[in-house]
Amino acid sequence: MSVGIDEISFYTSNFYLDLRTLAAKQQTDPEKYYTGIGQEKMAMATHDEDIVTMAANAALPLIERIGTNAISTLLLATETGIDQSKAAGIYVHRLLGLNANCRVVELKQACYSATAALQMACALVARQPSTKVLVIASDIARYDLDTPGEATQGCGAVAMLISHNPRIMAIDAEVGNYTDDVMDFWRPNYRSTALVDGKYSTKIYLKALKKTWDSFSEVSRIGFNDFSYFCYHLPFSRMAQKAHQHLAKSNQCELSAEGIEAQIQPTLRYNQIIGNSYTASIYIGLCSLLDNVKENLAGKKVGFFSYGSGCVAEFFSGSIQEGYQACLHTQRHMDMLAERQELNYDQYLDLYRYPDPRQGESVEIPKATLGRFRLAAIHQHKREYVAC
Ligand code: HMG
Repeated sequence: MSVGIDEISFYTSNFYLDLRTLAAKQQTDPEKYYTGIGQEKMAMATHDEDIVTMAANAALPLIERIGTNAISTLLLATETGIDQSKAAGIYVHRLLGLNANCRVVELKQACYSATAALQMACALVARQPSTKVLVIASDIARYDLDTPGEATQGCGAVAMLISHNPRIMAIDAEVGNYTDDVMDFWRPNYRSTALVDGKYSTKIYLKALKKTWDSFSEVSRIGFNDFSYFCYHLPFSRMAQKAHQHLAKSNQCELSAEGIEAQIQPTLRYNQIIGNSYTASIYIGLCSLLDNVKENLAGKKVGFFSYGSGCVAEFFSGSIQEGYQACLHTQRHMDMLAERQELNYDQYLDLYRYPDPRQGESVEIPKATLGRFRLAAIHQHKREYVAC
């Protein structure tokens, strides 16, 4: 029996800042962003959007198809937690109308935790093949203004239905893991923006790639040349390009530079116009691959490098299934991205400074999102979500 991704769908905000606008404000050459880090736009959540509304919006197309009773467990991965105790997935559970017998848990380990959720979901389904697990990754990447990280902000959520005999991708049991206690990127509880040692973080990312690949190679018979495509964690697209060149070189890959680049190029397209969505980014990369490659991917092997600062990383693999095209939400994704509106710099600053009523004051939040679910108000420290 195979276990894996039966359906996948993502959501991002309807608003973005072009990095040319940011570059002009910072008096920086826009090519530093467009070419140097390989990013064009960054999605900005509206005041009535957060990880809960994005998560529910990402999962809606899946629930519309399978109904509200099929899900036995909802695992929500995020590092943009809205509560220290209550799992954000409980709000999502209500917004989607899921069955009261469905268990809900939140997972955290920087950008890695969606992969932990995916593997846990596979284990649950392997134990009880009649069940389906909903895995959602949802995050808003925020750094301080006028820091090197600012251009790598973004937001998004991805929802994946995990089942036996999956229609999109079967996930192999063999994985390579790596954990190390490092301070490359972190966000203490009292801060709303991340702290990062940027250059150091890129070095640790590459080190973790090598360690997970070595660990994967010890347990799996799948070699570098067996893979057609690779999905990387995408803090910015140049990071994945550099990492993949590194991996190809260390495996004495005989492909040309263009051939190596072609193994990841289709996975980068959405990230380049959304930005970093932390836990969601590698799986939005998978959506980008599935939606944008014209050749039939059935039977192809895809390698995944999942990285979360701090750090935990994993290399794993999957096989695309026959007929997967019929299960994609490509048009929905394309329409959502095409309908987005550009922000000017002042509008960006306004969205950057979201409501934060720490003293329990009441805030009514005007409607701005085009998504089905929104954060309508915060009263006495309680967030009020509604369907539009
Ligand atoms: P920086 O230091 O300002 O940028 O920020 P730079 O000066 O290194 O320039 C970047 C690149 O642009 C360089 O290319 C320049 O040469 C080039 P490289 O040397 O790297 O090949 N460049 C230009 N190219 C063309 N025309 C120009 C031009 N000017 C410069 N005119 C940094 C870069 C990554 C440090 C910054 O964006 C940052 O701190 N980002 C946040 C941290 C990050 O994303 N780290 C990635 C690894 S850690 C990770 O992935 C985990 C994470 O997602 C969090 C989690 O796990 O939760 C972040």
